[in-house]
Amino acid sequence: MAKEHLWWQTGIVYQIYPRSFQDTSGNGVGDLPGILSRLDYLQWLGVTAIWISPCFRSPMKDFGYDVSDYRDIDPLFGTLSDMDDVIAAAHERGIRVILDFVPNHTSDQHPWFIESRSSRDNPKRDWYIWRDAKADGSPPNNWLANFGGIGWQWDEHTNQFYYHAFLREQPDLNWRNPEVREAMFGVLRFWLDRGVDGFRVDVLYHLIKDEQLRDNPENPKWEEGENPYRRLKAVYSSDQDEVHDVVREMRRVFDSYDDRVIIGETYVPLRRLVKYYGENNDGAHMPFNFQLLLLEWRAERIGEFIDRYEGALPEGAWPNWVLGNHDYPRVAWRVGAAQARIAAMLLLTLRGTPTLYYGDELGMADIEIPPDRVVDPPALTLGVGRDGERTPMQWDASPNAGFTSAEEPWLPLAPDYAAQNTAVQREDTLSMLTLHRRLIHLRQSEDALMAGTYHRMYAEGDILAYSRRHNGGGFAVILNLGGSEQVVELGPADSGRIALSTHLDREGDEVSSRVKLRPDEGVIIRLG
Ligand code: NOJ
Repeated sequence: MAKEHLWWQTGIVYQIYPRSFQDTSGNGVGDLPGILSRLDYLQWLGVTAIWISPCFRSPMKDFGYDVSDYRDIDPLFGTLSDMDDVIAAAHERGIRVILDFVPNHTSDQHPWFIESRSSRDNPKRDWYIWRDAKADGSPPNNWLANFGGIGWQWDEHTNQFYYHAFLREQPDLNWRNPEVREAMFGVLRFWLDRGVDGFRVDVLYHLIKDEQLRDNPENPKWEEGENPYRRLKAVYSSDQDEVHDVVREMRRVFDSYDDRVIIGETYVPLRRLVKYYGENNDGAHMPFNFQLLLLEWRAERIGEFIDRYEGALPEGAWPNWVLGNHDYPRVAWRVGAAQARIAAMLLLTLRGTPTLYYGDELGMADIEIPPDRVVDPPALTLGVGRDGERTPMQWDASPNAGFTSAEEPWLPLAPDYAAQNTAVQREDTLSMLTLHRRLIHLRQSEDALMAGTYHRMYAEGDILAYSRRHNGGGFAVILNLGGSEQVVELGPADSGRIALSTHLDREGDEVSSRVKLRPDEGVIIRLG
């Protein structure tokens, strides 16, 4: 059965934040030759695709999410030919390569924006969102920028405001302009022609804004002290119905190649999320499902969401799950080290493509960044940053964890790196890394886990339990989300042997009618 599925349906995506993965040039920042040198590790781990966060030319105001040339690699990361090498070497190892497309905004140093801001009648003026001030000199509407302050920047030279959903150095493109669409689709073709297997599309839901630029309404749930961006509901500045036309057009570009994937970054509520699949599965192949990042860590909540998600998926749409990324505190920090093992078992046994964030396979947790080392823009403006989840990958116990030969990496290393790193954990049969590798290998060798059906068994108290079945065979997954021992009664059909426990023991133990779980333990039972 799994053979009938496409690579991105049966695969496991591993997100690489390139600045933090492996430095080879000695400047303290990771690079493409670094990724190349670590492909053997990723192959050993068993992941089948890598998504590399942006590595294009950029002034790095938002560490690469501010692109000044979409068709070139930033010298900090290497060259185009280094990227060709990564693609070729990954493919040789059966690993697909997904790049990060940042279509909502460019850098203010992109030649398009430099032209656009040069005069009101420049042919590229309309490529961005320029508006006059109101009569009293205030911005055209009340929209806020995600990273703090208002979303409009006054331009002295041409006496108009331009809109930016993020930093003022990240002006939003005007996707209502057909020339912008063509130029950006040209960028996609450039990379797809080079052999890239797909794109993760940054803030896909932001591309189209309300045509009349109406004011966003107040958010009644917002409280003083919370992220000021949430003071307004982004009803008119994002997730507009017309965005789906753009997504459909973008999909057509991908469909003119074989077997490529669009993964959308879509932080929207479930009923709106599923629309990004397109009315006839002609939208994004996988709009990212971020609920495991956002939900309260309770069996009932998670079980209920899985059911709602499964129920909301359009016919033929493929599910996906994300446990960590470069914008959210790491899972081990959110739920603690013991529950992070449960989270790994959950991610890697649910129905749908899992995305794993680099370092989570070691149980890396966020660290407190000393004030003089903070670099993330929202940390500097809003006091809440993402540096803590972007610390360098921990390879071994050598200075700077084998990440860089520089005296100091761009972000500090987690202090536990000498004990928690790939070299140590590879040798430890009970480690988080061993658990990940075992889970990955089990998933990839079993159709029922890779592509079988999902049925909820329990979602109560601390227990979340479900089965995954295919062709009469299958697995029951029983997770203890709490710190006390639990006994779970099973149905007569749910007996079998333990295939894997988060504690990496009990393998092969027989289970019938009931299973006892230790605190923070999860088990996968091979049924039958
Ligand atoms: C979402 C990305 O994941 C985040 O890291 C970035 O800062 C914003 N989009 C702006 O591109």
